[in-house]
Amino acid sequence: MKAIPYGRQSISDEDIAAVVETLKSDFLTQGPQIAAFENAFAKYVNAKYAVAVSNGTAALHLSVLALGLEKGQKVISTPITFAASTNSVLYAGGEVIFADIDKDTYLIDLEQVEEICKTEENVVGIIPVDFAGYPINSEELKKIADKYGLWILEDACHAPGAYFTDSHNTKQLSGNCTYANATVFSFHPVKHIAAGEGGMITTNDKKIYDSLCLLRTHGITKSPDLLTENHGAWYYEMHELGYNYRLTDFQAALGNSQLKRANEGLVKRNTIADKYTQSFAGTNIICPLVSNKVFHAYHLYVIQVKNRKELYEHLQKNNIYAQIHYIPVHTMPFYKKLGFKKGDYPVSEKYYEHCLSLPMYPTLTNEEQDFVIKTILEFIQ
Ligand SMILES: Cc1ncc(COP(=O)(O)O)c(C=O)c1O
Repeated sequence: MKAIPYGRQSISDEDIAAVVETLKSDFLTQGPQIAAFENAFAKYVNAKYAVAVSNGTAALHLSVLALGLEKGQKVISTPITFAASTNSVLYAGGEVIFADIDKDTYLIDLEQVEEICKTEENVVGIIPVDFAGYPINSEELKKIADKYGLWILEDACHAPGAYFTDSHNTKQLSGNCTYANATVFSFHPVKHIAAGEGGMITTNDKKIYDSLCLLRTHGITKSPDLLTENHGAWYYEMHELGYNYRLTDFQAALGNSQLKRANEGLVKRNTIADKYTQSFAGTNIICPLVSNKVFHAYHLYVIQVKNRKELYEHLQKNNIYAQIHYIPVHTMPFYKKLGFKKGDYPVSEKYYEHCLSLPMYPTLTNEEQDFVIKTILEFIQ
């Protein structure tokens, strides 16, 4: 049996053809593929606007800037995420406050969010993470955000295609921004849509959209509405201290081609998840929470087990490369320098001691999954 990773991309002949076609075209960057990808993605998540950028981290950074985060202002997020979610706040000079996770969903605990809002001053926003592909109930979160005047930036890097059913019985797709001000996605190869590197921000707010477009490309504009002077067709002005966070056209072509198969991938991921869950029933393995109000995108399939390290090593010996998501961000040496310490967020820390992400990707074969299940069951018996 060849090595089985926890996640991997799947590249079709159509994907390759789309990239080759773009490579042979006039534009490698700033061409028509970007707008095509943005339009298709906005439609996919049912948002008004989408802005493609170079990666998910850039998407987070630009979003906090477009939402107006200023030096010294505080943003609440979760320790169980990739560090980029909270690093974005630090890039903008903001301060991170963590709320612990809910022990069942592994998402940010809304009660703790509210407690922080009651006691902390200068909190301006919340970055919830749709961890593993399980969407946050942003309707409930928005009630808190509205009460305290905060914005919501949803990190849905794990969750394109996920949705929850709100109190009006309406399916709310991650990224549709019914309740969030903006949502970010990543197109790293292990994610649902691979573009090599790449990211997207969705929003329904024209002001945020305009700001993102400006910041993505050095803060430079050629828009006649914005120019303070005009010397001719070549003329542009820099209005903000922006960045070069552009996506290339060949990455957009790959992303757009992958997007066409995104729903197929979600079905496959859910089938794989169901089989794991059924196979581990009656054992002491804790499987991901299933709810009839939620469509899980299963970027990750995370179990909790007693002897996690031993199982991880046992799987490695059998050429199965499970992974750990995540080491709590507040325990990172860099975050410790900011004043956080072990023991601050006990639910996250306990979760970390036991979590293990099993192989989960659309091209995982039945035979491979059977081998993973057999190897785990043998170990725990
Ligand atoms: C939850 C989360 N947020 C943000 C990012 C950053 O995305 P990127 O790697 O595209 O910069 C990741 C990437 O792994 C992630 O998992």
